[in-house]
Amino acid sequence: MLIILSVGGSILAKELKPDSFLGYAQALKELAKEHTVVVVTGGGVAARDYIGVARSTGANEVECDYIGIDITRLNAKLLISALGDAAYPEPPKDYKEAQDVLSSGKIIVMGGVIPGQTTDAVAAILTEYLRADLLVISTAVDGVYSADPRKDPDAVKYETMTAKELVNTVMTTEMKAGSKSPVDPLAAKIIERCNIETIVMEGSEPQNVLKVILQETKKSGDKKGVYLGTRIVN
Ligand code: UTP
Repeated sequence: MLIILSVGGSILAKELKPDSFLGYAQALKELAKEHTVVVVTGGGVAARDYIGVARSTGANEVECDYIGIDITRLNAKLLISALGDAAYPEPPKDYKEAQDVLSSGKIIVMGGVIPGQTTDAVAAILTEYLRADLLVISTAVDGVYSADPRKDPDAVKYETMTAKELVNTVMTTEMKAGSKSPVDPLAAKIIERCNIETIVMEGSEPQNVLKVILQETKKSGDKKGVYLGTRIVN
């Protein structure tokens, strides 16, 4: 099966330490024994910091987005380095390049591609374009909530939701470089139109992400398992 995994920079590069890159590399190598894997890395704190400075010095939002993209690509390069020979050596710069290198048999790792979106959207568009079987968004929150749980004590987490419900939930997100939401609105719209099973989960433990993906891709058997994120179904 073809799996697209979006790993938030807030997970992979929270403190810019080798361990999280090496931990993900280990899990991805195990996953690649059974599946073809494309990973999209986010920018995390560094992207936000760089964007913050750029905005303060007068950069417009598109310029800030380009800076964010550069950071996501740097994180992709760090993960490639941790994967060694198992990875395709360069992050593809766009969706077509990703498709071209898919036949290499290597794990493909890439970052952002164009302004006006986040790497979740990159992952969702890749899922549709490459006709992937599963999209997994590994992020700092443990699923999609009805409202921001940090601001609203009545926010409830969805175990399962439809893509339409996801779109309605995330549409209130502010559309600014570096803004925060478990899934960006464009990614939600793509998930809605491409009708592919998506999981949003907390990703600080790469082995747990691996376990959930292996469970989900089992051809038969109970897919419910031990699982704490949100499953988006149509
Ligand atoms: P991220 O995908 O990392 O955004 O891209 P995020 O929501 O902050 O995700 P986490 O924290 O890593 O989980 C960082 C920034 O890079 C720009 C945007 O400004 C985004 O906020 N970006 C990224 C783009 O403009 N286009 C892309 O394709 C990807």
